Parts: sequence; structure tokens; C-alpha cells
Amino acid sequence: MNIIIKQEQEEDYKITEKVVKCAFANAEHSDENEHNLVCRLRNSNVFIPEFSLVAMDNDDNRIVGHILLTKIKINNEDQVVESLALAPVSVLPEYQNQGVGKLLITKALKKAKELKFNSIVVLGHPEYYPKFGFKKASIWGIKAPFEVSDEAFMAMELGENTLDKVSGFVEYPSVFFE
Ligand SMILES: CC(C)(COP(=O)(O)OP(=O)(O)OC[C@H]1O[C@@H](n2cnc3c(N)ncnc32)[C@H](O)[C@@H]1OP(=O)(O)O)[C@@H](O)C(=O)NCCC(=O)NCCS
Repeated sequence: MNIIIKQEQEEDYKITEKVVKCAFANAEHSDENEHNLVCRLRNSNVFIPEFSLVAMDNDDNRIVGHILLTKIKINNEDQVVESLALAPVSVLPEYQNQGVGKLLITKALKKAKELKFNSIVVLGHPEYYPKFGFKKASIWGIKAPFEVSDEAFMAMELGENTLDKVSGFVEYPSVFFE
């Protein structure tokens, strides 16, 4: 297996959506609509093309995984802070547990630092994301705008103490809920 991570191009869109749909087909917490979410996010004003990455199996020249980071806000009564949400990340079932997700997440986090974002949040498997540096968002007083278990809602500083003075409710763009 020879995996490379690259920015998704317009000609990849349809294939990527199939990969996302397949990845979530048997996932535990899925509304089976994640591929439509990716499509809506790409068409929205929170879309940053550099943050839509695909994993290519170079041996077969096929897309086997995808990740998307999107702009969000963390709000309290004193301030509005820009941040990112990691959602969704997808790997084809036959490629799972071979490090493809790790490659996608590592590359996306690197990109987020390069583009000078200070933090990132994720709603996901509490056993998976801490290995990348995510911690419970509640440590910083960062809350989801919906009911979710404390362990599953996580955040990560992308620089030293960049969440030090940040707390409040995450505001996802409305396109997440359409
Ligand atoms: C979650 C996902 C992106 C991980 O990608 P991957 O390429 O399989 O992951 P990696 O090979 O990099 O890492 C495998 C590790 O993830 C863990 N893992 C995979 N799926 C998991 C799950 N549903 N819950 C908890 N841990 C999981 C494995 O146990 C393994 O742990 P280890 O490194 O300690 O052995 C992929 O399994 C996937 O697409 N799943 C379906 C869609 C989904 O759930 N997306 C994430 C929404 S939060």
C-alpha cells in the first residue's frame, strides 16, 4: 500500500462522496448523510479548499479516504473566536486500521497550523482522537451546541496555550444542520 495525501480537486468530488458514504455505511454513530454534508460544506462560505484532503492509494490510483476541516466559532458573551471543526474523516472499510486515518488527520492538523489557525474541535471516538493531542473540550470550558457526552467532544490547541483564554459554545455553520 502506497498512500499519499493531497488536496481534493473538483474532479474528485463524486468519488470522494462515494468513499465517505461507504466509510460510514457501518459506522456506529452515523446518519448515513455524511457524504451530503461534505457536498454542502464544499458549496458553503466556510469551505477552505486546502482543508479538503484525499488519501490516494498510488498503487491503484484510487481515492480511499477523505478529511475535511471547516471554519467554526467559539462564542461567549465577551468574545467570538475563530476555530476549526474536523468533520468528517472517512476511510474505505477495506483500508481501515492501516494508518490511513492517521495520515489524513496528521496532514490536516499540519495544514491548519500552516494557515495559522489556533485550535480545532472534533466530535468523535474518545479512544481515537487523543493520540493526536485532542483533549476533552470541557477542560477549557468549550461546549457543544447540542447534547453530547463529555468524552466525545474534544479540542486541541494548535500552538502554545492558544486556548488559554477561550471558552464558550461552539457555533457550527448552519449548513451542518440542513
Ligand atoms: C475512524 C476512521 C476514520 C479511522 O481511520 P483508520 O484509517 O481506520 O484509522 P487508523 O488506521 O489511522 O487508526 C486505527 C486506530 O483507530 C482505532 N479505531 C478505528 N475505528 C474506531 C472506532 N470506531 N472507535 C474507536 N477507535 C477506532 C483502531 O482501534 C486503531 O487503534 P490503534 O491505533 O490504537 O490500534 C475510519 O475507521 C472510518 O472511516 N470509520 C468510519 C467513519 C467514522 O467513524 N469516521 C469518524 C467519525 S468521528
